[in-house]
Order: sequence, then C-alpha cells, then structure tokens
Amino acid sequence: MQSELRKRLLEAFTENESEYLSGQYLADLIGCSRTAVWKHIEELRKEGFELEAVRSKGYRIITIPEKITANEIALGLKTTTLGSHIHYEETVDSTQKIALRLSLEGAPEGTTVIAEEQTGGRGRMGRQFYSPKYSGVWMSIILRPKLPPQKAPQLTLITAVAVVQAIEEVTGLNPQIKWPNDILIDGKKVTGILTEMQAESDRIDSVIIGIGLNVNQEIEDYPEELRSIATSLFIESGKKVNRAELTRQLLLNLENLYFLYLKEGFYPIKLLWESYAVSIGKMITARMLQGSLYGKALGITEDGVLLMEDETGKVHQIYSADIELEKRK
Ligand code: BTN
Repeated sequence: MQSELRKRLLEAFTENESEYLSGQYLADLIGCSRTAVWKHIEELRKEGFELEAVRSKGYRIITIPEKITANEIALGLKTTTLGSHIHYEETVDSTQKIALRLSLEGAPEGTTVIAEEQTGGRGRMGRQFYSPKYSGVWMSIILRPKLPPQKAPQLTLITAVAVVQAIEEVTGLNPQIKWPNDILIDGKKVTGILTEMQAESDRIDSVIIGIGLNVNQEIEDYPEELRSIATSLFIESGKKVNRAELTRQLLLNLENLYFLYLKEGFYPIKLLWESYAVSIGKMITARMLQGSLYGKALGITEDGVLLMEDETGKVHQIYSADIELEKRK
C-alpha cells in the first residue's frame, strides 16, 4: 500500500533525524526503485513535510508539519483496528458524511475520517459544530459491533471516557463528562461527541462516532456567542498541544475500552464513566422535546440511560436531553 510505504519512509527519517539517507538506502528499505522513493518524497512534501535533498548525500527530514494527516497519525499509532485505515482531508463539509459514505461502501471497522476543517460540522439535535482549520481534532470513526441497536448509546459513553483519559494523559488537565456526551473543563465545553447508527431491526450495521475536540484555539478565535460556553485545551493549559499525539492517544484509549466492553460488557465502563461525571448526585434540569424536568441525577443504567429523581421522589429514565446543572425550570 502506498501510504504504508510512506509511513516506513517517515519512520526511517525520524529514527535518523538530522542524518542524510541515500535514495538507494531508502529504495532497499521499502523495496522499490529510487524513482518511486522520489515520488513518495514528493507526496510527503505535498502533505507539508519539509525534506531536504542533497546530491550525493540523499534526503533529510527538516520539519514535520503541524497537520494531522494519515501519516502523522500513523507514525507511532499503537492500535490494531482503530485508525488502521485513515481518510484525511484538509477541508470537508462534515467528517460524519464521509464516514457514512465509506461505511455504506463497506469500509472496515476502525476506518477513521479526519479533517483539518469542517465547513458544516454537525452537533447533536441538528446543531452546528464550530470546527476551524488546524486548531482542533475533527474526526469520525466507523465501528461495526455485533450488537443489538439499543446498545449503541453505550458507545457514546465509552467514547466520552476515552476522550477524558486522553486529555488527562496528554495535557494533565482534568475534564469531566456531562451526560450524555459533552466533555467540560471548568464548566465549559471542550469536546462534543455525536454517535450515528445504521442498523436493521435486530443488529447494528455500523456506528459512526464523531468527535470534535477543541485543542489549540485561542479565546479570540471563538465567535462572541461561544466564548462563555466553549473552551480549548490551549485556553485551559496555556500550552499548545500536539494534535497528532492527542489523536493517537484517543484512538488507543477508545480501542482498549471498546475491546474491554466487547469482552466484559458495560459494567467496567459504567464505573469509569460515573467517576468522571460532573452531574451525578447534583440537582440538574433535563430539557427534553416533551418538556423539562428538575431533579437529582442518580447515575446511569447498564444501557447508559440517565436516572433522575424528581422532587416527589419518583425516578425517571432519561434517554435524550440537554442537561443544565443547578437550574430550576
Ligand atoms: C455535539 O456536541 O453536539 C456533538 C458534536 C460532534 C462534532 C463532531 S466533529 C467530527 C464529527 N463531524 C461532525 O460533523 N460532527 C462530529
């Protein structure tokens, strides 16, 4: 595969940083002609890698781009399935749409669509999701679990845990989860998750997990109306974050949790999820299509449904809602 060869070239360059590697050495390494090596180098340059060529010495890597191309992600990715096929675009309408098309064409489980920018990023409940260029991680992952459709919401909760852990590991920040799928830092949203499913009546065909992670935006980058409710890892930590590293960590965490879930069920994930949840034990307002409910968030069920106790002591199961902390209807 062409991208596999380029990945091996990049590995050779990064393992021998600042050294020149001859065309013949590289050709032998990846098992192709020197002309083919040159063509792969040209492709890498188009992706933003700066490679110096010196006659009689060979090629040397100068800079690695601040992009999250398939090669950037693949370099050092430790997963077996998630991200094994990466579809990268500079600008897309929505990565969800591309992932849906690939899924209908039969793309294998783990196929991941990543874009530097979305012009029509989609959120839950038909909302827009702001996804500016080079500053976030906008990606959609295709999963094909052999499960009944009613289990699909659990995948959103698994993803939320994977995101929280990746942020903790890469930045040291401590995000929390607001049911069902917002990741918050100090009450402001840093990540949104959108899960869309294709299914028959008794089995899932594919689930597309969309993750929108605000990484390196500065406060001025946000439109005025978002500044009080949204944040980024840079705003919270004061440090620029390597988006490729964060994406790799996220894919690895999600794969590990997903495999654990397939093997042992939802219980271990539920415990993790509840340990990160911001609302459990607190008074919340759940805004649903059919109206609002004020009460105490008790926890989630095995199916990922939110349990809420109203002021009369009656316990309600909430399947879909927007949650606000500590506000009366
Ligand atoms: C939400 O907070 O309502 C969910 C936001 C999900 C955004 C991600 S970004 C990647 C993927 N592509 C989309 O169009 N949406 C999801």
